[in-house]
Amino acid sequence: MAISFNMNGKAVSVDDDGEMPLLWAIRDNLKMTGTKFGCGIGYCGACSVMVNGELTRSCITPVEDVAGAEITTIEGLAAEGEATKVQEAWIKEQVPQCGYCQSGMIMAATSLLAEVPNPTDDDIDAAMTNICRCGSYPRVRKAIKRAAAAMQTSVAVGETANG
Ligand code: FES
Ligand code: FES
Repeated sequence: MAISFNMNGKAVSVDDDGEMPLLWAIRDNLKMTGTKFGCGIGYCGACSVMVNGELTRSCITPVEDVAGAEITTIEGLAAEGEATKVQEAWIKEQVPQCGYCQSGMIMAATSLLAEVPNPTDDDIDAAMTNICRCGSYPRVRKAIKRAAAAMQTSVAVGETANG
């Protein structure tokens, strides 16, 4: 069954079982491998993408459920090759260790900052439910705060909030 949606601004189509998890459509059918498989049961967050702007765990989302939707993966965050403030903060704080969980972490942080521009530690703890086996949590928190500050400065000088 052909299922069409937009991914990172481009129209795509997947001809496969509609019950297949979106994660496999993204990785195997569409060959975008930045989104990772961790647990496969919606627990770890490694597979996180945006579906119509909402943070979504793609390992437990049937691909048929996203027909007509706008999907953003980690590859689609840096529009026109320019890193977002979240990505810049991740680099400055040297967040990743092995890196495996980090696509999901960055997607979750991006989602959090879109909703809560100046998150407290409690906000971060509540929103960032992703699992990191390398224990990058303290650096994730620092990077989110750095990104929040940079985004507020950008807004003050008239840049786009997520650029
Ligand atoms: S792989 Fe989807 S939540 Fe773990
Ligand atoms: S950086 Fe290794 S699992 Fe998170």
